[in-house]
Amino acid sequence: MPTIAVKGSDIQWQCADDDTIMRSALRAGLGFPYECNVGSCGNCRFDLLDGEIEELRPDAPGLSERDRERGRRLGCQTRPLGDCMVKLRFMPQYVSHFPPARQSAILVGVRDITHDIREFRFKLDRPIRFLAGQYALLDLPGVGGGRAYSMANTENDAGEWHFQIRRVPNGVATGELFDRLLVGDKVGVDGPYGMAYFREEAERDIICLAGGSGLSPMISVSRAAAASPRFAGRTIDFIYGGRTTQDICGEDMLAELPRFGTHVRYHPVVSADSDDGWSGHRGFVHEVAERLFSDRIRDCEIYFAGPPLMGQAVQKMLIDLGVPSTQVHFDQFY
Ligand code: FES
Repeated sequence: MPTIAVKGSDIQWQCADDDTIMRSALRAGLGFPYECNVGSCGNCRFDLLDGEIEELRPDAPGLSERDRERGRRLGCQTRPLGDCMVKLRFMPQYVSHFPPARQSAILVGVRDITHDIREFRFKLDRPIRFLAGQYALLDLPGVGGGRAYSMANTENDAGEWHFQIRRVPNGVATGELFDRLLVGDKVGVDGPYGMAYFREEAERDIICLAGGSGLSPMISVSRAAAASPRFAGRTIDFIYGGRTTQDICGEDMLAELPRFGTHVRYHPVVSADSDDGWSGHRGFVHEVAERLFSDRIRDCEIYFAGPPLMGQAVQKMLIDLGVPSTQVHFDQFY
């Protein structure tokens, strides 16, 4: 098993032959910076000073040509072929509350949420704890590399992890999930990961903003918040955006939470401008959030998840309104 050593320190850890440098560090309890886990964000860049490696995704957008020339690599996409010497700065906030583990899971249930979002319920070999809003990598048969999906439920003794996943047109992984995987089939699950988890200690009202598969982590955060005794008296406003009325979903799950309608409030929004009889909000999630909350948004804890364009628009809106970044939580891996 290769040993990874950090230059100029006494930090070193073992990386299993089929693991990546970043994930093995997190399993070892180290605060290796990361976000997406799939090669997109670039947060896990490190300097490779010595040693042979294999890149799992050589065209990963998280690494520029210049980075590559300077010897930088992506921790989430780098598998060591022998001992390595690296340079990077660990950060305490990235130390996992529950170190990620790899195990197998059985698909135990499936249900349709909309025409293209489905919930997949997996039961793990052994219960592993996770925080509401976190994600896992699913290793699906015939699909190279793990795919990141967020859990919709909260940690439970049964060891069930539920994922609400939107079908990607022509997507290899979602094609496997939607068209071929059957109840009783086994998959690999690696997790939990992610920094956009529910902050129980933050004494602020919550705003959740979601679109597409972003439903899943926002439902998880809402469920955890509504169940938390520390959250009593505060509010959750949940804005879900879809292109058309048939994309709108989530209300039934929020309606199961205590104090739905008073302290837990649902605001669906449709972006398409068509003659569909919709009498609710029209526009985009960030526009409706700004319209509904305006300056009050600065006093809230904001969680968001959704397609990249939605994420960018929400981030810009929050910056423009002066929301402190410490109150904003998202993992951009879509
Ligand atoms: Fe590795 Fe995002 S590129 S965590």
